[in-house]
Amino acid sequence: MLTISIASLSGGQGKTTTALFLGRLLARSCCPTLMIDSDPQHNLTTYLGFELEANQPTLLEFLKKTVPAEDSIYPTAYNDNLFLIPADDQLDTVQDYLSNSGVGATLLKRRLEAVAKIFKVCIIDAPPQRSQICLTVLGAADFLVIPAEASVKGYGSLIRTLDLLNGLRDVGATDAEVLGVLPFRDRWFGNTQAQESRASVDSMRSEVGEQLVLPSIRESERFKQAINKRITLSELGYQDLEYPFEILIEKISTHIGLGINNG
Ligand SMILES: Nc1ncnc2c1ncn2[C@@H]1O[C@H](COP(=O)(O)OP(=O)(O)OP(=O)(O)O)[C@@H](O)[C@H]1O
Ligand SMILES: [Mg+2]
Repeated sequence: MLTISIASLSGGQGKTTTALFLGRLLARSCCPTLMIDSDPQHNLTTYLGFELEANQPTLLEFLKKTVPAEDSIYPTAYNDNLFLIPADDQLDTVQDYLSNSGVGATLLKRRLEAVAKIFKVCIIDAPPQRSQICLTVLGAADFLVIPAEASVKGYGSLIRTLDLLNGLRDVGATDAEVLGVLPFRDRWFGNTQAQESRASVDSMRSEVGEQLVLPSIRESERFKQAINKRITLSELGYQDLEYPFEILIEKISTHIGLGINNG
């Protein structure tokens, strides 16, 4: 199983949007995919159509190992290949457990070993803060995808995320590498890119190198429509908007030989 964490240390950088569309596209390509919602705001859980009762197992129980691993894994309505370990607002209570465990950064990685033979790819939607949950999510990752708004704020989020990643790598808490930086809400007026968008995407390129910056996610209401209808952008009739995720899947498939079938 290849584990990819979607992380960016600011709110509203496109983490959940990226996790959601990437997971659906992988599942549509017949890839057994496990998604994990690690954000107590639980937007990914909601976007995937779940309304959990208070007693239903989530990532909290998966991390604490208070139920068998498979009890926290739910099939989704999207298709037979897409599964979710959900979150609810109780997930915040795991922060102390992680910090007291002494091995917080490696805990999720260890827990995922129990399901590594069942799924081919695991996509984790990270929380926006530099919390214990965020550390264990980076610790579990083989690769990081960093969405960052095409703005001054987004560039700052990218820098903070890279700093955290490098700090964790220095102390051996993760081996994760950056798979790609994904500019989010790139604004265009006809054929002209907004000045702030262009300047910030240029800064991202000079920070991580041209080859790591993926084609950007355009500012568009279509994404919200697809989220609300619980479908992909191409299922909504906007395949062109899906291009950044297709490139990401190509990158992923070079690491695990997916035999992609988008039909
Ligand atoms: N292409 C787009 N253009 C404009 N808005 C978008 C686009 N894609 C998603 N959005 C909206 O942008 C907002 C932020 O996106 P998202 O929730 O994915 O960010 P996030 O990084 O997960 O945020 P948080 O840090 O709060 O978890 C959401 O309201 C989402 O519906
Ligand atoms: Mg989110």
